[in-house]
Amino acid sequence: MSTAPSGAPLLLGAAAATHDLRHEGRAHLLARHFDLVVPEYEMKWDQVAPRPAARDAVAADALVTFAGAHGLACRGHALWWHGAVPAWLAGAGRAAVRAEALAHLAWIAGRYAGRLHSWDVVNEPLDLANGRSDGLRASPFLDAFGPGYLALAFREAARTDPGALLVLNEMGLEYDSPDAAAKRRAMLRLLERHLAAGVPIQGLGLQSHLDAADRPRAHPALQAFAREVEALGLRLLVTELDVSDARCPRDRAARDRMVAQAYWAYLSGLLEACRPAAVVVWGVSDARTWLATSHPRPDGAPVRPLPFDRAGRRKAAFAALAAALGRGEGARAGHT
Ligand code: G3I
Repeated sequence: MSTAPSGAPLLLGAAAATHDLRHEGRAHLLARHFDLVVPEYEMKWDQVAPRPAARDAVAADALVTFAGAHGLACRGHALWWHGAVPAWLAGAGRAAVRAEALAHLAWIAGRYAGRLHSWDVVNEPLDLANGRSDGLRASPFLDAFGPGYLALAFREAARTDPGALLVLNEMGLEYDSPDAAAKRRAMLRLLERHLAAGVPIQGLGLQSHLDAADRPRAHPALQAFAREVEALGLRLLVTELDVSDARCPRDRAARDRMVAQAYWAYLSGLLEACRPAAVVVWGVSDARTWLATSHPRPDGAPVRPLPFDRAGRRKAAFAALAAALGRGEGARAGHT
């Protein structure tokens, strides 16, 4: 099982969709400034299996092909996620869900075997509000397979694509709050339990959806958590970084400063504690971000959560990101 050696360069990545590949400016940004791409949604189960017995990987193939054509690494996202189970499985019995979930994993992981940097094998498994002692979220996978579904997913992924770094991806571990601290403790227990059983979890993804108004940073508890995860022999990845400015003042320069400060304080602090395999921003530019619909500004002003603005210009956040990662503002890793 090959995992990214800790000496490998830290890869800067961006989430993208085929919309971005068809947009000349954003396709250029992706190829010019990033080392890695991850399909934002077009490789997910609900997208590649739109109807029973139907499979459609045209968009996912386009993103993997783009990565290969431009010397970019590519992440797979995500094999099993409760947020992307096809609607046509709703109401199906446990045996049907088990059969379909395993067939999906074998098909999509097999399709890109040997071509991906890493896979988010399971996305967002924890929800402490569900009240289980293991912290697992209620999900079709837990219901169909029981708590062993994570081990099954990682073992099947390792068998199908032994060259990919196999990542458990989670949200809400990074915040400076009692809930996040409890979630970090549950995550460490989960990782220790699975690694002790020989489950091939090789990386932990910190989604890192931040809010500039909270003045986020890599606080000491997060730094300690990062050190504990690496001490388990796992790689850390920042997998979905963006900084909402929805609760910031309207003034654009002030907002951009707050967002840039968040990028700097979070990444510089995290890199004091660990060596992430990759830092991925959740979008190529402000022109297309999930936050525009999920976390809009009350005043209706376009949100500005990413390092490039809607016109593809570098923002203060780009300089902060480059500085935190120790990069010149122009070059990709290893590209002069
Ligand atoms: O682009 C199509 C459009 O052509 C079509 O008309 C429309 C209606 O079907 O769908 C549009 O695609 C949508 C896409 O967002 C772009 O807006 C997909 O249906 C929709 O499923 C997709 O949502 C994605 C969401 O995950 C669910 O997959 C978001 O882009 C994506 O940012 C979000 O990302 C998640 C991570 O995977 C996991 N962590 C949280 C993160 C944010 O929710």
